[in-house]
Amino acid sequence: MEIIILKNAKVGSEVGGKIIADLIEEKPNAVLGLATGSTPLMLYTEMIKSHKEKGLDFSKVTTFNLDEYIGLEKNHYASYFRFMNENLFSQINIPLENINIPDGMAKNVKLHCQEYEAAIVKAGGIDLQVLGIGSDGHLGFNEPTSSLASRTRIKTLDEQTREDNKRFFKNSEEVPYHCITMGIGTVMDARTNLLFAFGENKATAVQQMVEGPVSAMCPGSVLQMHPNAIVILDEAAASKLSKIDYYKWVYKNKPEWQIY
Ligand code: PGA
Repeated sequence: MEIIILKNAKVGSEVGGKIIADLIEEKPNAVLGLATGSTPLMLYTEMIKSHKEKGLDFSKVTTFNLDEYIGLEKNHYASYFRFMNENLFSQINIPLENINIPDGMAKNVKLHCQEYEAAIVKAGGIDLQVLGIGSDGHLGFNEPTSSLASRTRIKTLDEQTREDNKRFFKNSEEVPYHCITMGIGTVMDARTNLLFAFGENKATAVQQMVEGPVSAMCPGSVLQMHPNAIVILDEAAASKLSKIDYYKWVYKNKPEWQIY
């Protein structure tokens, strides 16, 4: 895992945005895995800026989102489909047919999940997966105790996650109990995983992910087994790490050709 600790979420998102822009410039038909929630919002702002100001071309890019709530129509105000459209897709030149988000209204969820996995394979696999981490350590909606080898499937949300996400809904009763999420095995197949965590309420999950044992109790910890996982943190999210000075030194002293 490469740990990058930066001043704040804005700088972290700028660095992340550059990593993604470089990938798309090098590989115009890159396959991106995308995430929702508060964390990637500034990253999406950076991607939109790269498109509008520098002409970054998304016309050949394909995307797969991590997850979606079960039971929400695409245009429901809290659906991840709507979130992605409003915060990214409507503001870049990605063709609609290149966008993949699990369908929370799928009639046959099991079949839909199998087809989602098959579509990722057909697209050539995910080049770079954007991730956040839940305060309970979840990746996507893979809650603690999820199989570390899991594939796209239905999951039941942890109460902590329903509590954390109620801010996106009118009231806590409206937060769905079930979702479709890429599995941890699916995330591990991405060629690069790029995880962002900002704010003090992520500090414990980040510490367990980076320095704790690999354990299904903290799904994020599986990234210790990934050959190319980059973790971008602000000072607050990094505050419980025991080797902060080491991570900072490594990043500051990277040879120039390695710096993002
Ligand atoms: P957040 O969610 O970005 O809204 O904190 C992250 C996650 O649940 O993975």
